Amino acid sequence: MHTILITGGAGFIGQNLVHAWRAARPQDRLVVVDAVTYAANLRSLEPLIAGRDITFVKGDINDAVLLRGLFEEHRFTRVAHLAAESHVDRSIDDPEAFLQTNVLGTFTLLKAALDHWRATGTLERCRFLHVSTDEVYGSLGSDDPAFTENSPYRPNSPYAASKASSDHLVRSFVATYGMPALITNCSNNYGPYQHPEKLIPLMIIHALEGKPLPIYGDGSNVRDWLHVSAHCDALINVIERGRIGETYNIGGGNERNNRDVVGLICDALDRAFAADAKLAARFPACTAASGKSCRALISFVSDRPGHDHRYAINASKLEGELGCRSDVGFDDGIGRTVHWYLDHEEWWRDITSGAYKAWIDKNYGFRIAV
Ligand code: NAD
Ligand code: DAU
Repeated sequence: MHTILITGGAGFIGQNLVHAWRAARPQDRLVVVDAVTYAANLRSLEPLIAGRDITFVKGDINDAVLLRGLFEEHRFTRVAHLAAESHVDRSIDDPEAFLQTNVLGTFTLLKAALDHWRATGTLERCRFLHVSTDEVYGSLGSDDPAFTENSPYRPNSPYAASKASSDHLVRSFVATYGMPALITNCSNNYGPYQHPEKLIPLMIIHALEGKPLPIYGDGSNVRDWLHVSAHCDALINVIERGRIGETYNIGGGNERNNRDVVGLICDALDRAFAADAKLAARFPACTAASGKSCRALISFVSDRPGHDHRYAINASKLEGELGCRSDVGFDDGIGRTVHWYLDHEEWWRDITSGAYKAWIDKNYGFRIAV
C-alpha cells in the first residue's frame, strides 16, 4: 500500500487520474493538493472527498511550509506531479504564472519530497513522477520522424519553456541528489473534464451554442491525440514499474490536423442531433438543430504566435519496457467525448458562465477572420 500525493488533482488529467488510480489500486491512499485556479473543477471529486475516500487540500505547490507539513502528516511514498499552468494561449498573453507554478512550484515540490525522504531514510522506497509534455521538443516538419526521449529540447512557447525548465530541474535532482524521479512527456490529451478553453471542448461547446468554430491559421497544424484514460493508465504503470531517472514518451498514435479534428467533431454532433430529436430543443442555436451541418460554423482566424506545426510521439520505449499502448481509436474517442459533453451540460455551463467569458473575449476578440 502507498500514500500518493497528486498535485493538480482537480484539473483535467488530475481528476481522471484520481478516478483511474482508485480503480486500479484501491488499497492506496490518495491526497490531492490543488490551488483551485480557474482550471480546476471539484465536482467529480466531491463525492470522494465527502466520503473520505480521498483527502483534498486546497493549497499552492509554491507553499514550502504547507508541503513540509503534508509530507510529515501523510508520509507520501509516491508523488504524481501534475499541477501546472497548462494553456499555451494564456502563456502567450501573460507568462508569469507559468514560471511561478511550473518552474518554481516544481522546484519547491521536489525539495519538499527530497528533504522528507532523506530525513526519514526512505528515498529508496519512494518515487516522484513528473508529468510533462511533448511541447518541450518543439515543432516537427510534416515528414520528420516522431519525437523520441532523445529528441533535443526546443520549446517555442512560454508554456513549453516553463515545462522544459521543470523537466531539467527534475533531471538535475536525479543526477545530483539521487532523487527517485521519472518524467513522462505526453501528447495532447482529450476526454471527460477537459476545460473548455482547449481545442476539442471549445469546438463542441461553440457548435452547441451556434458560435463560430475558430481554427487558428489554415488548420494544418498536427497534434497526436491521446485519450486521457490511456494516458492515466500509462502514468500508473510508469510510476510503479518505470526505471528511476528515465523519461517515457506517451502518445496516442492518432495524428490529425486541426481541420480534420474539427470536422470529426462536427460530424459526430450532426449524427447525435439526427439520432436524438430532444437535442434540437436543448440546443436550438446549433446549426444541426435545423438540419444544417455544424461544419457551416467553421471559421479560420488569425494564427497563434509561434504556433508549432506538428507534434508526434514515438512511444516504443513505453510499449517495449512496460507493455503500455493506447488502444483508443480517435473516431471512437471523439464520439465518446462529444457525448460526454452532451451529457454534462451543467458541468461546462458552470465554467463558461464565469470569468471564462472574459478570457474568450480577450483571446478571440482580436483575431480576425482569414
Ligand atoms: P489543467 O490546467 O486542466 O489542470 C492543472 C491543475 O493544476 C488545476 O487544477 C490547477 O488548479 C492546478 N494548479 C495550477 N497551479 C497550481 C499551483 N501553483 N499549486 C497547486 N495547484 C495548481 O491541466 P491538465 O491538462 O490536467 O494538465 C496536467 C499536467 O499534464 C500539466 O503538468 C500539463 O503540463 C501536463 N500535460 C497536459 C497535456 C494535455 O493535453 N492536457 C498534455 C501534456 C502534458
Ligand atoms: O501537446 C501537449 C499539449 O497539448 C499540452 O502540454 C498542453 O497543456 C495542452 O494545452 C495542449 O497544447 P496545445 O496548444 O496543442 O492544445 P490546444 O487545445 O490549445 O490547441 C490544439 C491545437 O488547436 C493547436 O494547434 C492550436 C489549435 N487551436 C486551439 C484553440 C484553443 C485552434 O485552432 N483554435 C482554438 O480556438
